[in-house]
Amino acid sequence: MTSANVYIGTSLDGFIARADGQIDWLMKFADADAIGSYNEFMADIDVIVIGRGTFETVLGFPLWPYDKPVVVLSKSLKDLPDNLNDKATISSLEPPELLRHLSDQGFKAAYIDGGKVIQSFLETDLIDSLIVATIPILIGSGIPLFGALQTDINFEHVRTSSYPNGLVRSYYKRKREN
Ligand SMILES: NC(=O)c1ccc[n+]([C@@H]2O[C@H](COP(=O)([O-])OP(=O)(O)OC[C@H]3O[C@@H](n4cnc5c(N)ncnc54)[C@H](OP(=O)(O)O)[C@@H]3O)[C@@H](O)[C@H]2O)c1
Repeated sequence: MTSANVYIGTSLDGFIARADGQIDWLMKFADADAIGSYNEFMADIDVIVIGRGTFETVLGFPLWPYDKPVVVLSKSLKDLPDNLNDKATISSLEPPELLRHLSDQGFKAAYIDGGKVIQSFLETDLIDSLIVATIPILIGSGIPLFGALQTDINFEHVRTSSYPNGLVRSYYKRKREN
């Protein structure tokens, strides 16, 4: 099965974006260390799954930021801009069916991105690894990284790195009982 992997930046109070979607507070921390670590993560990824919310943010970037196939999860989007036809597809599959579909297509490792999308994969315990970069700022409100779960999910802490600018990055793997 295609693995599902998260790499996400969060405020100290657990938000991935302001309520209006702004990530100005996060972008200030996109230095060489952060870019290097993201590139290291991306080297093992062969497909990217983002929610419509994240897709809309990315459309505002000056350049399309991905060099791997992207699946945009949406039940409302019907079409993508023409310039993205060879770069992205829309899917309305639920997380388990989507992972099976990606697996059938030969993809080994998916990057799962977007607050609601990450939460929906966690609700069905489908996330295999989590990298959380915590920014030392409280923003008070916004789009939360985590949400309600039906049952606890245990992760194994792999390592944590901290940086002079105050960013702390922690690596976790899903802890599965044998
Ligand atoms: N801090 C970071 O590292 C980071 C990373 C990524 C994104 N962001 C920010 O997070 C914001 C977007 O996050 P978000 O939580 O609002 O949206 P999101 O998770 O990117 O997208 C949610 C939307 O995706 C669609 N969807 C389809 N299948 C879904 C499923 N199984 N589960 C959940 N959603 C599904 C729904 O749209 P339809 O109504 O079209 O079906 C839903 O409203 C943006 O502001 C972005 O900049 C921050």
